[in-house]
Amino acid sequence: MIADRKHTISYTLGMELLVHTVQELSMARSMDQVTAIVRSAARRLTGADGATFVLKDGDNCYYVDEDAIEPLWKGHRFPLTSCVSGWAMLNKKAVVIPDIYDDERVPVEAYRPTFVKTMVMVPVRQINPIAAIGNYWAYQHTPSLEQVKLLQSLADITAVTIENIEMYNDLERRVVDRTAALQAANANLESFSYSVSHDLRAPLRTVIGFTDMVVSDPDRTIDDSSRELITKVMKNAKNMYQTIDDLISFFTMGQKDLIRTPTSMMEMVQKICENCLEAEPLRDIEFKIDTLHDVQADSVTMQHVWTNLIQNAVKYSRQKPHALIEISSEAKEDKIIYHVADNGAGFDMTYYHQLFEAFKRLHSGRDFEGSGIGLSIVHKIITRHGGEIWAESEEGKGSTFFFSLPIVS
Ligand SMILES: Nc1ncnc2c1ncn2[C@@H]1O[C@H](COP(=O)(O)OP(=O)(O)OP(=O)(O)O)[C@@H](O)[C@H]1O
Ligand SMILES: [Mg+2]
Repeated sequence: MIADRKHTISYTLGMELLVHTVQELSMARSMDQVTAIVRSAARRLTGADGATFVLKDGDNCYYVDEDAIEPLWKGHRFPLTSCVSGWAMLNKKAVVIPDIYDDERVPVEAYRPTFVKTMVMVPVRQINPIAAIGNYWAYQHTPSLEQVKLLQSLADITAVTIENIEMYNDLERRVVDRTAALQAANANLESFSYSVSHDLRAPLRTVIGFTDMVVSDPDRTIDDSSRELITKVMKNAKNMYQTIDDLISFFTMGQKDLIRTPTSMMEMVQKICENCLEAEPLRDIEFKIDTLHDVQADSVTMQHVWTNLIQNAVKYSRQKPHALIEISSEAKEDKIIYHVADNGAGFDMTYYHQLFEAFKRLHSGRDFEGSGIGLSIVHKIITRHGGEIWAESEEGKGSTFFFSLPIVS
């Protein structure tokens, strides 16, 4: 009776441990993790003196890991046909051996130097076993059916975990392969677009040059409607030329090597603001520049970032009688966050997802001119610096653009 009671309690504890092991296994992502979890769970589950985790390795049993009172066979390989783990895997069923010296499946010589007197071996995955889990005791007895059942449950869960890990790793591999293929395709597309853009510039320059010669030659008589048509051709050709130029800078910005040097953001920003004021002498623009932290950054591309953001703030606040543009920064843990805020037209946050996409514009060309490339270049530069860019806006009230740069020494 007492023995029964003892078993009932250990079975309940065993079930608790099994549930805990299932939780641990569900988070395992590698065979090493599975092995470590299983070898200790297997021993604790039955209160055995030792446990081994054995993998099927071709025609051999490979004793990958163990948790035992004394060393067993960790790191050794034995033919499937000459060890008990092999027998369990080949016959696809559990083996209970109360006395190892009284069972012909046991290679006694391999066991003699060890403490083992009694053992249980269960296959992992019963249909087509891939491994086995062994339990060993230093005293001779007959393991209970509950102990064998617990161990087999552990083996079954281990089989599912290993299959999941294989699937997970396969998925990860596929994601890596696809990403590499996509990157290669993108790189091809970029270099193709880059060379096409380059080649398009030359004939377009000719179109612009010749139409310009026609309209500006005082000795040439052309009637008004022809002049109007030619001027239209010229204007569209110039727009196209600008777009091609933008495209080229979009591609080159992504390829240039970044050279990080200590960069004075304050100096850079002040110069850009002065240029903007000179370019817009008739407008009432107030720049409020607060603290601007210096960082290690690539100053050529950083100049591009600030110019784009400040020119946008100036452009999209054009309809305000008094444009207020505030520029500042703050240090946060391992990064600096910069802000450019304006009180201009703002934009509809519904289309926020398009904000940093190339050639996407949230305003019509009738209200504000532009090609919609500036922010996509800024986004590329900031991302390449290891930072992030984002924005907040309210239509009619203004926008704030934020970007972060990591503090690197
Ligand atoms: N400060 C801002 N206020 C309101 N809308 C803005 C602001 N900055 C950008 N936007 C919106 O985001 C769109 C994308 O900006 P982006 O700078 O990429 O292009 P753009 O200014 O239209 O043209 P360009 O390529 O000449 O810079 C703009 O068309 C505009 O709708
Ligand atoms: Mg712009």
